[in-house]
Amino acid sequence: MSDSQSAAKSAETSEAQIASHWKEEGYYRPPVTFIAQANLADPEIDDRFAEANFPRCFEEYAELLSWYERWHTVLDTSDPPFWKWFVGGKLNASYNCVDRHLAKYKNKAAIIFVPEPEDEEPVAMTYQELYARVNEFAALLRDFAGLKAGDRVTIHMPMVAELPITMLACARLGVIHSVVFGGFSGEACGLRAADSGSRVLIYMDGYHRSGKLIDHKASAEIAVDVAEKEGQKIDKVLVWKRYPEKYTSATPMKEGRDFFVDEVLEKYRRARVAPVPMDAEAPLFLMYTSGTTGKPKGCQHRTGGYLAYAAATSKFIQDIHPEDVYWCMADIGWITGHSYIVYGPLAVAATAVIYEGTPTFPDAGRPWRIAERLDVNIFHTSPTAIRMLRKAGADEPAKYRYRFKHMTTVGEPIEPEVWKWYYEVVGKGQAVIVDTWWQTETGGFLCSTKPALDPMKPGSAGPGMPGIYPVILDEKGEVMSAGTGKAGNMCIRNPWPGIMQTIWGDRDRFTRQYYAKYCKDKSSKRWQDWPYFAGDGAVHAADGYFRILGRVDDVINVAGHRLGTKELESACLTVPEVAEAAVVPVADDVKGRVPEIYVSLKPGYAPTKEITDSIVGTIELMIGKIARPRKVHIVPDMPKTRSGKIMRRVLAAISNTLDTGDISTLANPDVVEQIRQAVQGKEKVATKEGPEDLKLFGKEE
Ligand code: PRX
Repeated sequence: MSDSQSAAKSAETSEAQIASHWKEEGYYRPPVTFIAQANLADPEIDDRFAEANFPRCFEEYAELLSWYERWHTVLDTSDPPFWKWFVGGKLNASYNCVDRHLAKYKNKAAIIFVPEPEDEEPVAMTYQELYARVNEFAALLRDFAGLKAGDRVTIHMPMVAELPITMLACARLGVIHSVVFGGFSGEACGLRAADSGSRVLIYMDGYHRSGKLIDHKASAEIAVDVAEKEGQKIDKVLVWKRYPEKYTSATPMKEGRDFFVDEVLEKYRRARVAPVPMDAEAPLFLMYTSGTTGKPKGCQHRTGGYLAYAAATSKFIQDIHPEDVYWCMADIGWITGHSYIVYGPLAVAATAVIYEGTPTFPDAGRPWRIAERLDVNIFHTSPTAIRMLRKAGADEPAKYRYRFKHMTTVGEPIEPEVWKWYYEVVGKGQAVIVDTWWQTETGGFLCSTKPALDPMKPGSAGPGMPGIYPVILDEKGEVMSAGTGKAGNMCIRNPWPGIMQTIWGDRDRFTRQYYAKYCKDKSSKRWQDWPYFAGDGAVHAADGYFRILGRVDDVINVAGHRLGTKELESACLTVPEVAEAAVVPVADDVKGRVPEIYVSLKPGYAPTKEITDSIVGTIELMIGKIARPRKVHIVPDMPKTRSGKIMRRVLAAISNTLDTGDISTLANPDVVEQIRQAVQGKEKVATKEGPEDLKLFGKEE
């Protein structure tokens, strides 16, 4: 068979043809007590947000915010796919999350910080206190760091109350923040700082994680060097202290560049900074995420549409009331933390818990002790954390006297069995669950049940959210109707206020990545011609619920966090002995998927443990521990097509003991059996059954 025949063959087995083997689950109904108090209990929402009312329906979301000036145009589609929302409107995100709550809630806790060491007490900060601190830090950013609206700042901090203070101080000035996940390496931070053009970095000296006090400031040194190598000079590194009385890093402060925030703040005590009225379309922040090419992309989110969408979904889907105690265990360094720890919850006057450490430290009872102590009643986490807690202490929740009314799962598909443990054991059969499907790019939830209105179905995210019209398209762009049981590409037919504006500095990549696949007429100004391609495989059930299967591109979802295979491969290729590298996802009981690495060596090198260690070390250094591969396989050669492309699909099949499919068209079919035996041993029998995303992986190559 020629390459073109084999391409045709692989197109035949596109997502459209792959039947889903997941069993349909029965419904669970929301408890009556939940419905009685829910923010969203009026079924007419579906009519209000029906397509006939698009885009005006979203004014209801924007009206949850306080505006200096009202918008004149709800949606401007004149430059597709760069949609503009609430055009002409002016607002400030910091004002909306802080100032406007003072009249009613100044004495209420805005943030409760829970340190990881259990002998340190939780610390509650009222809205009044948050207001004072945000103002003082905003004054420092403006007058000491010289920052103004439109400038970018890179923030590399752990889960502490100072992180939202920093973000809100930036937002007060219209400074665009780019928060890099605290667990990422200094190198990753430096690259992002350079891409965004930040001349100021904000750090914390150290933090607690899994029982250790981590020296975090050490990573700033690397970040500054890497950014400078990329051509971005860093003028100032502002360093918050984890403990006011001591510096918890062994890295010296560099005179003239590094400054302790608490010392500089002395000058700005009692300062007040008027929030800067920003255009609805002014960028609020960048959030870097992995894509299909090596370089992470900065998803640029707007002020008005984003905040309206985060606030409304926090109110209606998270069901946050000011009286609730809301705890999202995600990290603020990911989009979940931006939308559903900081901006959404604080915009609706929540009390938000911020926990510094790992959920299983010092044991699997920790989250439930925190929930009991603070009387948390809304809980938000990922399937990976749920699997981890179940494995480490399935009976723990029953020992503690907390009561959740509402729980969320987000970030990865959840197995129905894990969902049921979450419902019965963590939720004690009394809490409603929402399985929210969305992405860094989308700003907020896209699919979820409406907690008081729709029944839950384990393993399914649910229908499109109000005003979101999802559709599954096959490779040719034909709609795959509900109820066929076949998987296809998850797309959204319409724009919505939370969608990112663009990729920072790369408009073409934005259009290419999300819209090129299905836009039939690039000159069209009608939003109907520009479906958003999410990069996920999904099945649309007859009841309208979507079950998300996983990524269809080169992205691996590790513990709910996105890693680009190309990013890992480029890191491997910097190891001098490595000739070629391929990264594939492998199923893992706890983390969902983890990366495994295949490399071939340059001539003259033999496989050694040192080479393997150097590959792992390089990945940790360039990306972070989160990207640590489960295994590194040094192979004699990569399986390749005749045109020389590495067949990742074949390697993924070997790592997951799946059938390798047709390999007769490869340039070197014999190497497949050699690799298989080296990885699996002689006796292993491959199977055709397996998770859909693993079967889809590399299919398009
Ligand atoms: O594959 C989907 C998966 O996570 C990806 C988005 O990752 P990220 O941008 O890091 O955002 C994570 C938090 C929103 C998606 O493309 N994903 C997200 N939520 C779900 C999910 N997969 C299944 N079910 C979900 N609820």
